[in-house]
Amino acid sequence: MSSPPPALHVRTLRKAFGSTTVLDGIDLRVDTGSVFALLGANGAGKSTTVRILTTLLPYDSGTVEVAGLALPAHTRTVRERIALTGQYAAIDDVLTGTENLRLAARLAHLPSATIDSRVHDLIERFDLGHVADRRAGTYSGGTARRLDIAMSLVASPRVLFLDEPTTGLDPRSRLVMWQVIRELAADGVTVFLTTQYLEEADRLADRVAVLDAGRIVAEGSPDELKSLVPGGHLELRFATEPDLARAAAVLDGDSDHATLTLEVPTDGDLPHITALLNRLADEGVPVEKFGLHSPTLDDVFLTLTGTSDRKKVSP
Ligand SMILES: Nc1ncnc2c1ncn2[C@@H]1O[C@H](COP(=O)(O)OP(=O)(O)OP(=O)(O)O)[C@@H](O)[C@H]1O
Ligand SMILES: [Mg+2]
Repeated sequence: MSSPPPALHVRTLRKAFGSTTVLDGIDLRVDTGSVFALLGANGAGKSTTVRILTTLLPYDSGTVEVAGLALPAHTRTVRERIALTGQYAAIDDVLTGTENLRLAARLAHLPSATIDSRVHDLIERFDLGHVADRRAGTYSGGTARRLDIAMSLVASPRVLFLDEPTTGLDPRSRLVMWQVIRELAADGVTVFLTTQYLEEADRLADRVAVLDAGRIVAEGSPDELKSLVPGGHLELRFATEPDLARAAAVLDGDSDHATLTLEVPTDGDLPHITALLNRLADEGVPVEKFGLHSPTLDDVFLTLTGTSDRKKVSP
């Protein structure tokens, strides 16, 4: 039995605006039914990629297949199989939530007999009932984002593109959005999302690609990406400076005298950690507190691109 074609397949995709190369030969493969996160800082080329994959922008060279069909040859059919929630909301502020959804349904050529029930389902599913009859211009950012995604789902797309679905949302709205995305994936929709948030890619995505200056600098599962980066360590804190000094004499690590801590590199393996702690116990050095630091996608980004963009990535 042959496996289904990937939902997205991109090979050596290039795109320039004038003399500025924005995508410098990128390769992507996204399995049907998976969640894929394209991670990158401002200006990395995320929206450009999404616009090409959603037929809104022509590309210069390479090949692009979406839902098993090549672009630009099958633009019209591809449009029937996908939906996009762009970086900037597509809702009409003077219409109510219900009116926005009905408009989206008509634009998607839904048979008129099915529009009412579809709109009703989406209002329920996205928890918009209490605001459905209010003008969308009065919605909070998180509610507007939910309506925006609901509108892109009126026609039951196979592949959903979400360009920075949670940028600008508060932590609670972000959690709600993550839940929405997980439910879509559980229903079998392939989700391609872009994000500047490393934690978001880590929590949601089956696979992650890191885009930097128009190139994919890493690709894999969140765990695979983390394994590329050392950075794991055991942090030991002591009550006194002499305790720290005695610990530093038996274990190889970095001492921080201001915080009375010692960082000892480890792969997080339990026997290794036990051995480290036993050596301190054998020497009679009391440990006040300890914690295990696993490498994060933030560390991956720092290692791969040379910049952590910490200001941008902390939600
Ligand atoms: N129509 C255009 N004409 C010229 N340059 C463009 C155009 N669209 C995008 N660019 C440039 O391409 C680069 C990538 O832009 P893009 O919008 O894809 O980045 P992004 O990763 O989505 O960034 P952000 O996180 O800010 O949304 C930027 O340098 C941008 O200025
Ligand atoms: Mg963008």
